[in-house]
Amino acid sequence: MARFLVTGGAGYVGSHCVLALVERGDDVVVIDNLRQGHRAAVPAGVPLIEADLADRAAVASVFAGPRFDGVLHFAALSLVGESMREPLRYMAENVGNTLWLADAAVRAGCRSFVMSSTAALFGTPDTIPIDEGQPLRPASAYGESKLMAERGLDWAERVHGLNSAALRYFNAAGADPAGRLGEDHDPETHLIPLAINAALGLGPELTVFGTDYPTPDGTCLRDYVHVTDLADAHLRVLDVLASGRSGRWNIGNGRGYSVKEVIAAVERIGGRPVPHRIGPRRDGDPAALVASSAKLAADTGWTPRFAALDDIVATAWAWRVAHPRGYGDRRPVEAAA
Ligand code: UFG
Repeated sequence: MARFLVTGGAGYVGSHCVLALVERGDDVVVIDNLRQGHRAAVPAGVPLIEADLADRAAVASVFAGPRFDGVLHFAALSLVGESMREPLRYMAENVGNTLWLADAAVRAGCRSFVMSSTAALFGTPDTIPIDEGQPLRPASAYGESKLMAERGLDWAERVHGLNSAALRYFNAAGADPAGRLGEDHDPETHLIPLAINAALGLGPELTVFGTDYPTPDGTCLRDYVHVTDLADAHLRVLDVLASGRSGRWNIGNGRGYSVKEVIAAVERIGGRPVPHRIGPRRDGDPAALVASSAKLAADTGWTPRFAALDDIVATAWAWRVAHPRGYGDRRPVEAAA
């Protein structure tokens, strides 16, 4: 049994990872400012420290307790569009928080650090699928902030011996297959939950951002990867770090689905239409982003359990139907059960 600090553990990907750690018997402490995260997403019995990572005194006091075997760092600003309106905030917050957190970890004698990174590191890629050898040239301040954070961790390894992993997520999607956790962002900007909300009448009609891309049906291709498979990858890279190695890994299913294919999948799973209209392109959207996870598979044995788009959509659909108002519904639902 090991002990881990999880930042952003009340958020979407972080909460699924906390659950996976708890289920394998690890001890977990969550720190989250609850700006995007939800108290109800943290499993009972897991301590939740409500604090912002910019509060370095709060972070220091967390590390003053029993030693952590590793830190999993999910907490970050993560909207590409917002980052182009507030680039300096994105860079200052994402880079500063990551590196001061790593500094606190180093001072406390913690040797393993995992950060959430992103496909946005690659901007518009030269070739598909994208492996780790592709040029890193972010097209957004969000992507740049994650690249700078990764580079800071390179230095932490070189100078302080901090082993680190960065997992470059492609499109995180889906929900805990057992229905305990799901995706609840405010505002929601991601395609699958927006399409589901539109189909259920819980949100406005979906706008398809552009049908004139150089793809088979003219809409963008993305690599949707199940959040439970992402959580599993975190557990596996922790084992790599514990063996004294660092790494940077892309993570996706290696298959791109178009916006139109996602809409069709939601209609198939939900059995009802997704009201939608065609709109202009969204600034900064590359035509196709598809991951090669060959390195992750080779280094950790990771293989996705929920690679099929229908499985991803079905878990997301089930959670939203059970929680039409997201985690706002969570407590009453449990109390009634
Ligand atoms: N889309 C629409 N309509 C919407 C929302 C999205 O057509 O209302 C389209 C987008 O144009 C894109 C696809 O659906 O083609 C997926 O969009 P998301 O917003 O769900 O996800 P992104 O691909 O934009 O974002 C993901 C990650 C980011 C990462 C980015 C890299 O969520 O963290 O990939 O480009 F930075």
